[in-house]
Amino acid sequence: MKPQREVRGVTIVGTGMYVPERALTNHDLERMVDTSDEWIRERTGILERRIAAPDQASSDLALRASQRALDMAGVKATEIDHIIVATTTPDRVLPSCACTLQVGLGATGAASYDIFAACTGFVFGLGLAQGLIGSGVADTVLLVGVETLSRIVDYTDRNTCVLFGDGAGAVVLKPWAAGDGLLAIDMHSDGQLGDVLEVAAGGSLLPASLDTVRDRKHFISMRGKKLFPFAVRSMDESLRIVLDRAGLAPSDLELMIPHQANQRIIDAVRERLGLPEEKVVANIQRYGNTSSASIPISLDEVVRTGRLKVGDLLGMSAFGGGATWGAAVMRWTLAPVVPQGVAGEAQGATLGQVAS
Ligand code: ACO
Repeated sequence: MKPQREVRGVTIVGTGMYVPERALTNHDLERMVDTSDEWIRERTGILERRIAAPDQASSDLALRASQRALDMAGVKATEIDHIIVATTTPDRVLPSCACTLQVGLGATGAASYDIFAACTGFVFGLGLAQGLIGSGVADTVLLVGVETLSRIVDYTDRNTCVLFGDGAGAVVLKPWAAGDGLLAIDMHSDGQLGDVLEVAAGGSLLPASLDTVRDRKHFISMRGKKLFPFAVRSMDESLRIVLDRAGLAPSDLELMIPHQANQRIIDAVRERLGLPEEKVVANIQRYGNTSSASIPISLDEVVRTGRLKVGDLLGMSAFGGGATWGAAVMRWTLAPVVPQGVAGEAQGATLGQVAS
């Protein structure tokens, strides 16, 4: 029997995000479907969302976010061992979005693959990266959450088209001192809830055909009312599980990043956890629901604006189609050096001791 490897700690050493330039406002949507700016604000908190340009695919968004994360980490693309892309909207069915991203980055040595866990994809990716690095299988992992949901949103369906947006967030993960950095991860699925959020056609069950296109079966359909209470309960419970595993209470958190699906869901989770408003990150107003990208986009924003500091306890919690849900808690270890007046563009990172 092989001797068991000592489990290493894991941390995030760089973050990056990218959103497309074009903003689709509530007023734009008023001209497309029977909705109103007032309804969207009150029911979701969203003011606008970003939409990818016609020539931008998910891998293009992922490339921009990844380059920023690698810059912050001071890591060369050739040093990456694994590229994990969490997405429900890959460029194509085959090859994976991660393989296309690998080419863009020139990450020639990286095993590259996608994971498919909808809005929980980034949290599941953290769990995978922790396993890979902790066990010594990989030293450097690039994890990306990216979506071009505008390509699978039905802009004649007011129930869904007001919610979703495009964007990408990325992190670079490395070994770290055990007991610091990523402290605990929790991951769940319940396939019985598969019908609450689905894209019915385009897979092996219902391949693309003239009928599936005519019946609009390549677009997202959602049972929003059923999802709402499930989202609140699952994000709250999963975060409590990771806090418990780490010997922490909700009040120990300096910051909590929930998946950005609806401001009312975020508020309800915050209230259940007893957290004050300033500790819970919300940028859904500007980006809408970017699914697997929402947590890494939020993370990059709080890092670059100095809202997250070394030693802070950070909670992250998500739910999504599948159904899937999960949470992570970490003690933040990265102090990015961001020159004054260069908001949104990190210039390097100061790192503590990295366990090898
Ligand atoms: N504009 C105006 N009216 C609308 C719109 C709209 N954009 N959308 C729905 N309505 C109407 C409905 O048709 C309904 O009308 P009716 O009463 O005449 O039938 C009415 O508004 C109320 O609809 P509800 O579904 O009760 O509205 P609710 O307050 O539940 O809000 C929402 C809907 C925003 C979808 C909410 O249920 C929600 O956010 N659910 C969770 C959705 C979610 O999280 N999705 C993503 C999860 S996974 C992932 O992130 C990929």
